[in-house]
Amino acid sequence: MVVDLAAAQAKLPRLGYLDLTINPALDLFEEIAKLKQEKDAVILAHYYQEPDIQDVADYIGDSLGLAQEAERTNAKIILFAGVHFMAETAKILNPDKKVLLPDLNAGCSLSDSCPPPLFKAFRKKYPNHIVISYINCSAGIKALSDIICTSSNARAIIDSLPENQEIIFAPDRNLGAYINKETGRKMLLWNGACMVHEMFSLEKIVRLKTRNPKAKVIAHPECEESVLKTADFIGSTAQLLKYTQNDSADTFIVATEAGILHRMQQLSPNKTFISAPPDNTCACNDCPHMKLNTLEKVYLGLKYELPEITMDESLRRAAKVPIDRMLEISRNAGLIASKN
Ligand code: 13P
Ligand code: SF4
Repeated sequence: MVVDLAAAQAKLPRLGYLDLTINPALDLFEEIAKLKQEKDAVILAHYYQEPDIQDVADYIGDSLGLAQEAERTNAKIILFAGVHFMAETAKILNPDKKVLLPDLNAGCSLSDSCPPPLFKAFRKKYPNHIVISYINCSAGIKALSDIICTSSNARAIIDSLPENQEIIFAPDRNLGAYINKETGRKMLLWNGACMVHEMFSLEKIVRLKTRNPKAKVIAHPECEESVLKTADFIGSTAQLLKYTQNDSADTFIVATEAGILHRMQQLSPNKTFISAPPDNTCACNDCPHMKLNTLEKVYLGLKYELPEITMDESLRRAAKVPIDRMLEISRNAGLIASKN
């Protein structure tokens, strides 16, 4: 049998077959701008991305804003500078567009803490419960859920359900416990968590606050309850950002992934932002998954239109239903703009 190697390689366009060397003299900011225009591509970036990536993005946002932006873009290609579940959400909403993730290994510890086969068995035990899943989960979990939520709209989604409705909340136990406390509900919580938000040191935050008594502590609801208790304000990344712009304090201790400090500093150049310190088991509070993406990988991703997110069509359709419900409830609650 004669094997046509060129044809076989064309069918398997792995990055390993491509020239990945980048001339160090190349201005990547300029090259990325050119590629975006040439290819009709848009870059959507999460606030936890490294500063250079945020600076080349067409839109920077939290998970809700990014999902909405993915839904309404007309571009042919979406390069998603974030983690896998985010790019997957963009693909679920845009089956006909090419969705690229600069590094396919950019996963999420929270998403990984909820494997679909285990969750399927768990939800079977509670047939009368509605399943609300935080967007930080795989397409497999989304397909097993009734409504998706983000940290921006979780409260509104839960408030949209009758008070006596029994609910399973997955996969983040901290966000779930926080909403239970806020609403007085008794949602059944999946025992998952984010590795980044669980490693802030309460002791070090308190010490920092003692040294900076006028500073406000702001925290993401993925943090543990003890950290949330010390916070002056709790919210999604977009809500934290807005708070730092509007509040009169000039110093903020920020208990979420450190990438957001770039945008906070850009929008409030005269204020001081201190990253909440992690415990002694870790030297940093960067998300190792988010930080797998680099400006170089964004450039190569656009150049070769790889790596691409692909998905089984029946899974995509099933996962889209609870995302559409989330977007609809968010529109009705005035949390996002209407489609037109
Ligand atoms: P938000 O940006 O929606 O607040 O989510 C934070 C997060 O952990 C994303 O991975
Ligand atoms: Fe996942 Fe946590 Fe990283 Fe967000 S910060 S992507 S929840 S591991």
